[in-house]
Amino acid sequence: MEVVVNAKPVQQVECDAVVVGLFSDGELLPSAAAVNAAGNGLLKRLQERGELKGKPFETTVLYDVPGFKTPLVHIVGLGERAKYDGGTAYRTAAAATRTLAAKPRRSVACYLSEAHSVAAVAGAIVGTVGADLYRAEKKRHPFDRLEIAASEAAVARGTAIGEGVNLARRLVNEPPSTLYPETFATHAQEIAGKCGLTCEVWDQKKLEAERCGSLLAVASGSLRPPRLVILEHKGGKPGEPPIALVGKGVTFDSGGLSLKPSDSMTTMKCDMAGAAAVLATMQTIARLKLPRNVIGLCGLVENMPSGTAMKLGDVLTARSGKTIEVLNTDAEGRLVLADVLNVALDRKPTRIVDLATLTGACVVALGTDVVGAFTNDQSWCDAIVGAARTVGEPIWQMPMFPEYAEQIKTEIADIKNTGDGRWGGAITAAKFLEEFVGTTPWVHLDIAGPAYFEKPKPWHDLGGTGCMVRTLVEMLSAS
Ligand code: BES
Ligand code: MN
Ligand code: ZN
Repeated sequence: MEVVVNAKPVQQVECDAVVVGLFSDGELLPSAAAVNAAGNGLLKRLQERGELKGKPFETTVLYDVPGFKTPLVHIVGLGERAKYDGGTAYRTAAAATRTLAAKPRRSVACYLSEAHSVAAVAGAIVGTVGADLYRAEKKRHPFDRLEIAASEAAVARGTAIGEGVNLARRLVNEPPSTLYPETFATHAQEIAGKCGLTCEVWDQKKLEAERCGSLLAVASGSLRPPRLVILEHKGGKPGEPPIALVGKGVTFDSGGLSLKPSDSMTTMKCDMAGAAAVLATMQTIARLKLPRNVIGLCGLVENMPSGTAMKLGDVLTARSGKTIEVLNTDAEGRLVLADVLNVALDRKPTRIVDLATLTGACVVALGTDVVGAFTNDQSWCDAIVGAARTVGEPIWQMPMFPEYAEQIKTEIADIKNTGDGRWGGAITAAKFLEEFVGTTPWVHLDIAGPAYFEKPKPWHDLGGTGCMVRTLVEMLSAS
């Protein structure tokens, strides 16, 4: 889909459809005012009769508005003006294009608010793409051309971000028998080549030589060998220490010998969403040429039960030298991240953020729409939470009291990979990760809830969401 700027007055646009935003209060936007004037007060009349409220995601189609060159005018509600933020801009734009993309169309033009236009451009692009990768009859049809009434700069930035989100979504939606550690690494190499990132891939032999005993133990149950992908964006001064992004890339989580029940396993292709967000963010910041040094590390394994799988009671030696007693093979994400975080430390990063679909407990605590944030450094956490607020991705910080760490103590090894029972499970998992970051400022983002929608929403198809890509790009764009 080609995305271009269209600065013409809305009446003169020649497209298959035009999207016009409508706030539920206050003055009409210029494009809405044009529709209203052309229809002799049409929008105002519809509002008075309660047919049009301008609530978020409300869509109303008007045909053949007099004086308009485009036959179909699609009014999308933007909600209250005072509440219109990055999140609403993204979601309302996505809702509008999602509806229009139900049919093939050559061209669609969007006229939304000038505020938060980058988020709106990204949303408009995300809305055109569905999860129908393997469906003969597609549910979504990206337009040949998307025209947007916004500045050149906003369209360029929003396009890079929207396409980044869609990359993460596509990787998550890909079935586990086509997307596994080796194919993820191949995608990463191709993407790196195209956008000018450096990309190093560690295979099984290299991981053994590097003594990544914790990550390798998770991989040992699978016929699919593991990979570690290390991407590098050198936008800053040479030698300036980087920020490190670390992603959990479990391409399928069966639970291993602690096998998940079937109903909990059905969506476990999503367990690489952290790694997908890292790759997508790296692609986006390379395209935007952000002036800083960033490394992205993706720990890629498949967690399977078999005769060679790790067992309950096994003691692993992680790359850092710490020993780990395995008491549940389904708590595999932290085992993978233990070694990837340690590799990240080799590069002496100033700050680390990891992304992981780590615990069901985080979904119990915060629900399906909110990311859990955990940290050893409040100001670093504030920076990420602030970026998330700017772009409108819901996030909530969780406590990290030292008492929680009591739960990962064991008589047998340095630590164990589970807490005592279920209580506080998202936090005991974060406390485990904290053991592997030393004193480097670190934030852990548990995205188990919002990385994957089991049901569609008015503004999003079901499946992978590309959660946290927009937040990370925002955070890395701040000086
Ligand atoms: N990948 C899962 C967490 C998950 C759950 C992601 C639901 C997305 C949706 C993780 O590896 C896991 O299985 N965690 C266990 C940990 C437990 C065994 C300590 C969990 O949350 O039950
Ligand atoms: Mn698991
Ligand atoms: Zn998992």
